[in-house]
Amino acid sequence: MNGIFDSHAHYDDERFDADRNELLERIHREGVEYIMTIGADLPTSYAARELAERYDFVYFAAGIHPEQAGDAPENYLEELKALAAHPKCRAIGEIGLDYYWAENPPKERQMELFRRQVLLAKELGLPVIIHDREAHADTLELLRELRPAGVLHCFSGSAEMAKEVAALGMYLGFTGAITFKNARKAPQAAAVVPADRLLIETDCPYMAPEPYRGKRCDSSMLPRVAERLAEIRGGTPEEITASTCRNAKRLFGIG
Ligand code: NI
Repeated sequence: MNGIFDSHAHYDDERFDADRNELLERIHREGVEYIMTIGADLPTSYAARELAERYDFVYFAAGIHPEQAGDAPENYLEELKALAAHPKCRAIGEIGLDYYWAENPPKERQMELFRRQVLLAKELGLPVIIHDREAHADTLELLRELRPAGVLHCFSGSAEMAKEVAALGMYLGFTGAITFKNARKAPQAAAVVPADRLLIETDCPYMAPEPYRGKRCDSSMLPRVAERLAEIRGGTPEEITASTCRNAKRLFGIG
């Protein structure tokens, strides 16, 4: 399948250390036209920038993930601003809220970084890439208040929430998790997202789709996600691939 846009990947991850370059070159040859590789703190944001500098088909996002909120240096906003000045930095992310780990770092700290980074993105005219794990109500409240452009990645909310997020003008990203046999909510949500708000992503090295579940994920597995979305929504996998590529290019200002 050609013309695939992987809108959320972590190719700086150490699980790619042994074969990163060969892998990226191969998946690009095999039809992955664009990759958005994403930082989760400052070091990984710099590593993402390095990949974007090496490959013309790779773009990057810089941000502090909620799990790293406790370790962010005091000057993190200045550092992110400097990273965002790079021509291939097309989003602030990933940022957001993660209440799965018993709210550690504390909610207040997560919310402070989330809010500040959303405001930074708005100031810079960039979209945000949002991580929301078991924090739907607080995430929605902030989106309603600040109205950023961006994507809720690895969407895990209800169909009702999906409709509201799309109505706020945001995009929704779906990973290999929608192919899992026990997936319930994500397919219901994926069914109601307007076609011009839908994105596909790997979140690699995590979230490998069936039949690769549990293995190291990479962008060459994205056709499985497109196939599953086509089953849920109707149409063909090729149509899903083409429309999600157009959507990601629009969101990230590419082409
Ligand atoms: Ni991620």
